[in-house]
Amino acid sequence: MIAFASRTGNVRYIVSRLRLPAIEISDGLKLSEPFLLFTYTDGLGDVPRAVTQFMERNGALCRGVIASGNSNFGHLVFGGAGDAVARQWRVPLVRKIDLRGFAEDYEEIRRYYERCFREERKSDEVLLEVK
Ligand SMILES: Cc1cc2nc3c(=O)[nH]c(=O)nc-3n(C[C@H](O)[C@H](O)[C@H](O)COP(=O)(O)O)c2cc1C
Repeated sequence: MIAFASRTGNVRYIVSRLRLPAIEISDGLKLSEPFLLFTYTDGLGDVPRAVTQFMERNGALCRGVIASGNSNFGHLVFGGAGDAVARQWRVPLVRKIDLRGFAEDYEEIRRYYERCFREERKSDEVLLEVK
């Protein structure tokens, strides 16, 4: 599933177009299954506070991060939330998206999602066989 944070609606818009299982990050949310994080960028390349708190509770289940930003902020901080999460949690940076992005961004996210969660299921099956 995708866990997302959106302040002004861009991320929420993209998530609605993806048609994948998704949940909006809220205070105290605790997930019990692996997820992709989709966040906007705040401050100067910063991770929104609610996302940092969410990751402190759920980071171990994160399988990758997508970040929306605004390229007018300049390449040093564009989508910086994605870089910061990827570095701190050692997860792949799947995609940086300028505002609401384009069709190819959505395709890339879908491709990663399918690959990631299909492989996750496969490795579960292998574990079951071993038992
Ligand atoms: C106060 C503020 C700070 C921002 N800082 C950055 C930034 O450092 N880097 C960046 O790429 N985008 C930055 N943005 C742009 C947002 O991340 C971008 O508009 C994003 O698409 C918002 O997603 P949302 O509509 O889902 O909240 C900032 C926006 C605001 C309002």
